[in-house]
Amino acid sequence: MTISQINENALKELKATRSVDDINALSVKYLGRKGALTLFLRNISNLPPAERPEAGKMANQVKKALETLFEEATAKFESVGQGMEDIIDVSLPGRTAQPGSLHPITQITGQVCDIFTRLGFNVAEGPEIESDYYNFEALNIPKNHPARDMQDTFYISENVVLRTHTSPMQVRFMEKHDPPVRIIAPGKVYRCDSDLTHTPMFHQVEGLLVDEGVSFGDLKGILTTFIHQMFDEEISLRFRPSFFPFTEPSAEVDILCVMCRGKGCRVCSQTGWLEVLGAGMVHPAVFENVKFDTSKFTGFAFGMGIERIAMLKYGIDDIRKYFDNDFRFLRQF
Ligand code: PHE
Repeated sequence: MTISQINENALKELKATRSVDDINALSVKYLGRKGALTLFLRNISNLPPAERPEAGKMANQVKKALETLFEEATAKFESVGQGMEDIIDVSLPGRTAQPGSLHPITQITGQVCDIFTRLGFNVAEGPEIESDYYNFEALNIPKNHPARDMQDTFYISENVVLRTHTSPMQVRFMEKHDPPVRIIAPGKVYRCDSDLTHTPMFHQVEGLLVDEGVSFGDLKGILTTFIHQMFDEEISLRFRPSFFPFTEPSAEVDILCVMCRGKGCRVCSQTGWLEVLGAGMVHPAVFENVKFDTSKFTGFAFGMGIERIAMLKYGIDDIRKYFDNDFRFLRQF
């Protein structure tokens, strides 16, 4: 092929390009390592000596010209977007914005807070990265106490943890406020645990009420009112003796199974009851840590898992669904 034939072909093909990709392919075809023009230049030494200078000069001119043309064409395509005429179909319907909604856990937290605010509680919030003192020591859980095994703790350093429960908020709030105290404290908590009913991060709501003459009967009354408003009036409660270092006496609270109403089913493991929260009367050791007068004041505290309440309310059997971010799941709420 002569140099002018190569030039003609290249110009013809340039006219047919539609995108930067086309130009790149063309550049490889003519100017690349095995491109037509490159091969021509390489073969000049095989021409009769008299023709060599002229052929070399022309080939270099064509090469320069093509390089400039390819660059200009690339710039042109880039400024209008690559081959836009092929991509934009003006007859397609537009993309509409998807309406957002609150996450089911946020919704349930809101409902719990609403019920307790109507009962006269204030909402308080505190840090998720917590000191050993607030998460354990001030709650009557000394270092090396076996009760620490109840909570699989993420340690950040020897004295700093990701809070394993919202109970540190009891101490934080009482340090800053004199009685009477009526608060709930919702928020994220962390435990090193993961299966069908546990995720390493989950949500709790803490409750604390301190005043003169507060009794276990008040605790029962408040929790019964809460469960009836959260689920329905037909759901009865059961208080089982239990142990928490920061309450005495302590109880775990079960509600009648919302699925089978006590008959026994898979959700309640045939017991007819579901465990929903821990509670008890504030331990005097906790009051002493915040310098409350234990001869004058008594109080109760409780803590519940939001995911657990949400699972029962919506009939969901795998807690991990809340955190998969699958829109097909989340859109239902
Ligand atoms: N903090 C306890 C837990 O996470 C629950 C609890 C709160 C128990 C308040 C009693 C009083 O298991």
